[in-house]
Parts: sequence; C-alpha cells; structure tokens
Amino acid sequence: MTANVTWKSRWTFILAATGSAVGLGNIWKFPYITGEYGGGAFVLIYLACILLIGIPVMIAEIMVGRAGRSDPVDSMSSLGQAAGKTANWGAVGAIGILAGLMIMMFYSVVAGWALDYVAQSLSGSYHQAPVEQIEKSFSELLSSPYEQLFWHSIFCLITASIVAGGVTNGIGKSVDILMPVLFGFLLLLLGYSWFNGDFSAGLHFMFDTDFSKLTSEAVLVAMGHAFFTLSLGMGAIMAYGAYFPGKASIGKTVLTIAALDTVIALVAGMAMFPLVFANDLTPGQGPGLMFVTLPIAFSNMGGGQFFGTIFFALVSIAALSSSISLIEPGVAWLEKRDVKRVFSTFGLTGIAWLGGVACIFYGEVFNALDYITANIMLPLGGLMIALFVGRALSKNTVEEEVGMGTGMLFKCWWFVLRYLAPIGIILIFLNSLKLI
Ligand code: TRP
Repeated sequence: MTANVTWKSRWTFILAATGSAVGLGNIWKFPYITGEYGGGAFVLIYLACILLIGIPVMIAEIMVGRAGRSDPVDSMSSLGQAAGKTANWGAVGAIGILAGLMIMMFYSVVAGWALDYVAQSLSGSYHQAPVEQIEKSFSELLSSPYEQLFWHSIFCLITASIVAGGVTNGIGKSVDILMPVLFGFLLLLLGYSWFNGDFSAGLHFMFDTDFSKLTSEAVLVAMGHAFFTLSLGMGAIMAYGAYFPGKASIGKTVLTIAALDTVIALVAGMAMFPLVFANDLTPGQGPGLMFVTLPIAFSNMGGGQFFGTIFFALVSIAALSSSISLIEPGVAWLEKRDVKRVFSTFGLTGIAWLGGVACIFYGEVFNALDYITANIMLPLGGLMIALFVGRALSKNTVEEEVGMGTGMLFKCWWFVLRYLAPIGIILIFLNSLKLI
C-alpha cells in the first residue's frame, strides 16, 4: 500500500464502512438472535453496547488506521513504537487478520445460501409451494454439500475479484454502486411489508421489553453482536481508515456509519417480522428464520416471487460489501510485504474458502467459528484497541489525530474509551464466565 492511495471522497469511505457494517449480521443474524433472546430487552442492551462500546472503539480504530496509514499490523506497531511503547501491539492487528479469515469461512457459506435462494426465487421454486416442501428444501440444501459448495465458491470468487481490483477501483467503485442499490431494495421491502404484513405485531415483537429473558449469555451475545455488526475488533475498519482522505473529523463519520448500520438492522427486522406474523408463523426459529420462515411467507403472498428475489438479492449484496472487508486487512498487510495484490487476494480468499468447505461438511466447525469470533475474538480485539489508543498512545497524539477538537466531545469520548468501554467489556466477559 502506498500512502497516497485514498478513497475518492469521505462519502465513499462512509459507503465502504457502512457496506462492511451492513451485512448478514443485520439481516440474517440480528433478527434471529433477537428472536432467540426475547426481543425488546435484547435490542435495548444491544443498542447500549453500540453506543457505549461500539462507537468509541470504532472512532479509535479509524484513528489508528488514518494515523498509521498502513495495514493494521504496521499501523499499530509503528504508532506503538512512536509512543515509546512496544511494537508488539502489531500482534493485535495480526490476530485481527486471522479473525477476519475465520469469519469469512462461515460467512461465505451463509452468503452462498443467499445466492442459492436468489436462484430459487427467480425460478419460482418455492412459489405457492406447501410449507413442508419449503422446509424440506432448506434442510436439503444443508445436507447437500455440493450445492452449497457451488454457491460458496461463486461468492468467494466475486469477493476476491473485487478486492483484487484494489481500494479505489475495486472496493470503492463497487460500494458506490452496491450501497445505493441496497438502500433502494430495503425501502422497497419495507413498503411491501408495511402494506402486506402485520406491522404492529412486528413492532411489538422487536420493542416489547421482557427483562426475564435477559440472561448473562444474552448480554454477551448482544455485545458480541455490536462488534460483529459494526465490523469492529479485527482491523477491518482500521484498514479502511488507512485510506481516509484528509483530516476530517472522525467522530461525525462514525456516527453516520453506526446510525446507518443500526437503522438498517432495525428496518430489516421491520421488513421481515411483519411478514412472519401476517402468515401466523413464529420467529423463534434460529438461523433458519431467513431461509424457511420468509420463503413460506413470500410463497403465499401477492408479488411474493418478485419481492422474494429482491430480498435475497439484497442479502447477497449486503454480504458481498461486508466480505470484502474481511479479506482486505490481510491483503493490505501482504501488499506491504511486496506480494502482488492479485496473489494475496486469491491466496487469502482460498484459505477462507477451504475453511468454508470444512464448515459445509462439519456443522460444529461452523458454529465454533461463529461463536469464537463474534463472542470472544472481536470483543477482545476491541478491548486491546481501546487500551492501545486510550492508554498506550499519548493523549496529545490522539487529540491531534482524531480531529474532534479539545472540547466536550473529545473529553467524553476519551473518558468512555479509557474507562467505560474496557470495563464494560471485561465485566460482560466475567459475567458470562459466571465469575461475577
Ligand atoms: N459487519 C458484517 C455484518 O454485520 C460482518 C463483518 C464484515 C465483520 N467485516 C467484519 C465483522 C469485520 C467483524 C469484523 O454482517
């Protein structure tokens, strides 16, 4: 990477970061974990985690990327060294690169399912089909490795060809096109759900608050998801931040990204749950919610085939603009070591692809990768980044690099980053380990 490569504008950065943030996490994972952990109370804790931990850590990540102007490993080690501390901070970036590949392994499999359902919607295979057949069709996909392998491979290939094109021409140009399409599709679906779904049942489900379901595991999952959905804790946003043009304030940019991500997760919920309830289905279905319950809903509604296609295309696009950010940090790191972008991109995607093959054949691998990355690696990575910026770097450097001035805004962020966020992460960990 050369220091003079940047995004076309601050807006392209926002689109790329929002593209990274908005993904299967928002549309596939958030609705079903909300269903599993009891709706409103879970949403509340999740929002608190976004506000008190996610946003401050995201500001820190972008700041490190922009100040270091390099891949996560080099940015952290050179800033660490410059602050008179150890260059070993680079290890946090390295673990992040690994976490990104581990996420990509199961992520690309689910994205493959979404592609498969685009094809199924287009061909009308679940249109007006009986419920049992739709249920069977998803379990058949899950037990048919070759069908999964096919779509998983296609998804990996598309991801790699975008990343291989580089930051400005590959990633930047794609998100400039993909993100507006994504927003458009989502609004279309929201409208469809408004007119055809049971909107008030959907709202009740998402916002009625029953604290009795809020176990310590639910709190850990809410925090893990806050990291996952904002793409934090593994250097993805840091790698994107390295190409941040100019010195614009990071705070405002981050608020925009986090707000878009959160609104899209909630809107995705509001586009899905009303359809589920209008068809007398229940959302507590686990990961199959999107691939079973929704096709059932679409199958017997007017315009269901068209909107079903739009829905799964939306999911695929969201997954694609996220998966590129899972590979980019490693590619940036190898590029710094003079490996050609094409080789590193296809090499790293190949490794993730292989992991995906393992996920397809062994469900336990899939679940383990999901659990370890989201609930352990990302929060730990976030903790390290908060400690790095809040405690290893000097306050003056941070003040200057983050560009939020020296007023209240900076002071609040600085306090949250130094105390609230790390203590919050540690408490949630201890609590979930049943130590407190
Ligand atoms: N944020 C994405 C989602 O919600 C997933 C993702 C992309 C991610 N890049 C990441 C998660 C980096 C953690 C770290 O689907």
